[in-house]
Amino acid sequence: MKDLTELARALREATHVCVLTGSGISAESGVPTFRDAQQGLWARHEPTDLATPEAFARDPDTVWQWYRWRRRLVAEAEPNPGHHALAELASWHGNLALITQNVDGLHQRAGHPDVIEFHGNIHRNLCHREGKPVTVDDDTERPPTCPQCGAPVRPGVVWFGESIPQKALDAALDAAGSCELFIAIGTSATVYPAAGLAEIARDNGRSVVEINPDATPMSDHADLILRAPAGEALSALLQAIKD
Ligand code: APR
Repeated sequence: MKDLTELARALREATHVCVLTGSGISAESGVPTFRDAQQGLWARHEPTDLATPEAFARDPDTVWQWYRWRRRLVAEAEPNPGHHALAELASWHGNLALITQNVDGLHQRAGHPDVIEFHGNIHRNLCHREGKPVTVDDDTERPPTCPQCGAPVRPGVVWFGESIPQKALDAALDAAGSCELFIAIGTSATVYPAAGLAEIARDNGRSVVEINPDATPMSDHADLILRAPAGEALSALLQAIKD
């Protein structure tokens, strides 16, 4: 309870807040985290073997079908209390930047404005040749072709080994560099450059908070830890703010 009260006070005092979320905040919506075992048909695949440009070049149909499976999974999922509480905290605070590593769009569906999508969005598709967004029917067995140039269409997400979209990277670095309070929620803090954002805040002498039921490499550098699931912690934080 002390930590919650302390975090509520820090939120009231911070003029700039930066929040980084990972797949843990969507776990309570039934969307498996990256480090969860893959389910069913996909149990024999590792995400790191599918979410790469090489995998798409080698076997576009399988990669495409994996994303189709994930899009269907996400379409059936609903934002959970963690997404909703965070959206309410953002609207209450007025200067909270949200960076998400998630591609599921659940923050937006919870009403969160201005989400910095660090790894893209699974509901967006791109021309594989031009890299431009394209509108296609993506509920297909094989990658559709680009309506403009006929090249294959790929999911609008950042694959391992690819760069973060420049606009998202610049916005995230600005938010992490200018915040007084950095809160990491539901991330294993293992994938860079996202995991490096907390280090920017820490190196600036800012407070770093971790909300996660499990320890991560960030835990030792956190000034405050809420060792709880995101839905429970964020709902309690919202209540503490209102009290
Ligand atoms: N609430 C909060 N955190 C949770 C919950 C929950 N209910 N359930 C699990 N977690 C935590 C796990 O303990 C873990 O630390 O969420 C974290 C999820 O870690 P990962 O599965 O590694 O997901 P993430 O950190 O988002 O991965 C980062 O790696 O695989 C790539 O591009 C992919 O964006 C992803 C990136």
